[in-house]
Amino acid sequence: MKKDIGSVLGLYPTPLVVVGAMVDGKANWLLAGHVGIIGHDRVMVSMAKPHYTNKGVKENRALSLNIVSEAMLPAASYVGKVSGAKVDKSEVFAYTTGESGAPLLTESPLTMECSVEDIYETETFESFILKIDHTFVEEDKLTEKGKIDYRKLQPILFEMPTYEYVKTGEVLGKCLGFAEQYQK
Ligand SMILES: Cc1cc2nc3c(=O)[nH]c(=O)nc-3n(C[C@H](O)[C@H](O)[C@H](O)COP(=O)(O)O)c2cc1C
Repeated sequence: MKKDIGSVLGLYPTPLVVVGAMVDGKANWLLAGHVGIIGHDRVMVSMAKPHYTNKGVKENRALSLNIVSEAMLPAASYVGKVSGAKVDKSEVFAYTTGESGAPLLTESPLTMECSVEDIYETETFESFILKIDHTFVEEDKLTEKGKIDYRKLQPILFEMPTYEYVKTGEVLGKCLGFAEQYQK
């Protein structure tokens, strides 16, 4: 029997990203697990209103979402712990500057450069609705046909209830192959 545990977020694990934005002329990084997909061409990142990153994102209307690899976890966790309002995080990651002016994290295997289309405000969060302008992927993380290969990319996931990181697991098979197995 299922137990009603209340209004609790149950959508974990989620992909983990380092958000990169220019704030007061310097690169700033924030770790986020609250990301989502909207339709086929928009994404969303939800950031608490007091975060320093939000200021730069609202001013410049641009940011980068950088998929986190296992090797990045110590630095990614650090930028998820300290605020740019108190500590200069601009040198935590090497970066290049995108067309939009957003910092693009060099070590990340996949970076999406995004522009802000809308901001959905709730009591304590600003959720940024983003258009993906560019997606930069390490070539060795692509299939022969030029598609993103998650077996090679191995993005780290985030699990809030236990506050742990999760590795992506094995491939179970093709989606439509499972539909063919269905029998009533
Ligand atoms: C694993 C992990 C996931 C996080 N996910 C989010 C998130 O989705 N949204 C958010 O607002 N803060 C999230 N945080 C907290 C921010 O990354 C953190 O408060 C950061 O220091 C804010 O930086 P800033 O003030 O320089 O913007 C997360 C932290 C960790 C460690």
